[in-house]
Amino acid sequence: MSKVVVINHPLIQHKLTIMRDKNTGSREFREMVKEIGMLMVYEITRDLPLKEIEIETPVTKTKSKVLVGKKLAVIPILRAGLGMVDGILEMIPAAKVGHVGLYRDPETLQPVEYFCKLPQDVEERDFLVVDPMLATGGSAAAAIKLLKEKGAKSIKLVCLVGCPEGVKFVQDEHPDVDIFLAALDEKLNDHGYIVPGLGDAGDRIFGTK
Ligand code: PRP
Ligand code: URA
Repeated sequence: MSKVVVINHPLIQHKLTIMRDKNTGSREFREMVKEIGMLMVYEITRDLPLKEIEIETPVTKTKSKVLVGKKLAVIPILRAGLGMVDGILEMIPAAKVGHVGLYRDPETLQPVEYFCKLPQDVEERDFLVVDPMLATGGSAAAAIKLLKEKGAKSIKLVCLVGCPEGVKFVQDEHPDVDIFLAALDEKLNDHGYIVPGLGDAGDRIFGTK
């Protein structure tokens, strides 16, 4: 079974509270999504491989570690996932970015695919699927399924706010995919919204309704 990691660093909790507040406007909401994405990357990339190289400091020759240069790709689930991309790229600028377009049908709550564009060398890359919200889990599970169908072997799911229902769904569908969250909320309501949650992430990022 995959692991679920809640990255509840004080900075992340503080920024998440700003996001949850219904009086926070789009500009600040966007900044918080970006900054939390950036902060979460520390934990998510903890297992990146290193190699030792020889360098010369102003004082002496020494051996020191650098990243091996593992190929990474960030896959935002459109639209709301886009808000997390810039923050993640500031930490790992060499990552490629693919896009999966899914929206949740408001009646059935089922994900509907409308776009998919991935980097070419799918089988060689480690993927971070990013979306602020993990609600029923339908969108995340569908995006992961799509990546696997295209040949992806290594996938992590990164969301800001999740709930037990969504975590269970993704774990049941994709037991090989670790899930990273900034918060694990209480439950889903009858309309498929996370409680207490933060409302509709896409609408709040882009100022739509
Ligand atoms: C939201 C959110 C997730 C999905 C989560 O997207 O960004 O993609 O819902 O819900 P689920 O876990 O029940 O599938 P939405 O469909 O509202 O589209 P948007 O990003 O374009 O606003
Ligand atoms: N999508 C959102 O944007 N928010 C929720 O609470 C659930 C799904």
